[in-house]
Amino acid sequence: NRSFFQYKLVLLGDSSVGKSSLALRFVRGQFQEFQESTIGAAFMTQSVQCSDGTTVKFEIWDTAGQERYHSLAPMYYRGAHCAVVVYDISDASTFTRAKSWVRELQRQAPPNIIIALAGNKLDLSHSRQVSEEEASAYAAENKLLFVEASAKTDANVKLIFTRVAEAIPKS
Ligand code: GTP
Ligand code: MG
Repeated sequence: NRSFFQYKLVLLGDSSVGKSSLALRFVRGQFQEFQESTIGAAFMTQSVQCSDGTTVKFEIWDTAGQERYHSLAPMYYRGAHCAVVVYDISDASTFTRAKSWVRELQRQAPPNIIIALAGNKLDLSHSRQVSEEEASAYAAENKLLFVEASAKTDANVKLIFTRVAEAIPKS
């Protein structure tokens, strides 16, 4: 029985939704108010323990959300085992963009890819534009994992990745 698994994970979503911030929080436990917009993509790794005692090491590709980098995305999701599509709960247009990423993944990514929808910036719930009900209903319809989180406060950040790790069939 194997106890160690390594999976390629891609972060997708509009620019400034907080993909790099979620990755930086998860991997290094840090947050930067003035996180720089990603150019091309960034790579990092981090491991999580699953409840069955296995360890999952994620190879994380943090992609650039700016439109001019859109054509690069297939290079990162093509061989991916899992994708985390991020939007900002305080910006409805980023939820629309997240849905178009999900459609693209459903058409172009490996058919068994695990997709999680992550609503980031939960600390900005006073200016929320996307309700939790709407997003979780959309996630359920599309068989996506769903978590609301905040890279800033660290709320639920590790949960996004452990949910994904637990959802991947270990065979
Ligand atoms: P691109 O690299 O351009 O695709 O953007 P990105 O999705 O990687 O966003 P990034 O992590 O660079 O964050 C954009 C801005 O949002 C930065 O100023 C972050 O400090 C801020 N930010 C990220 N996560 C949060 C959060 O959970 N809450 C709040 N309030 N701000 C956040
Ligand atoms: Mg970034």
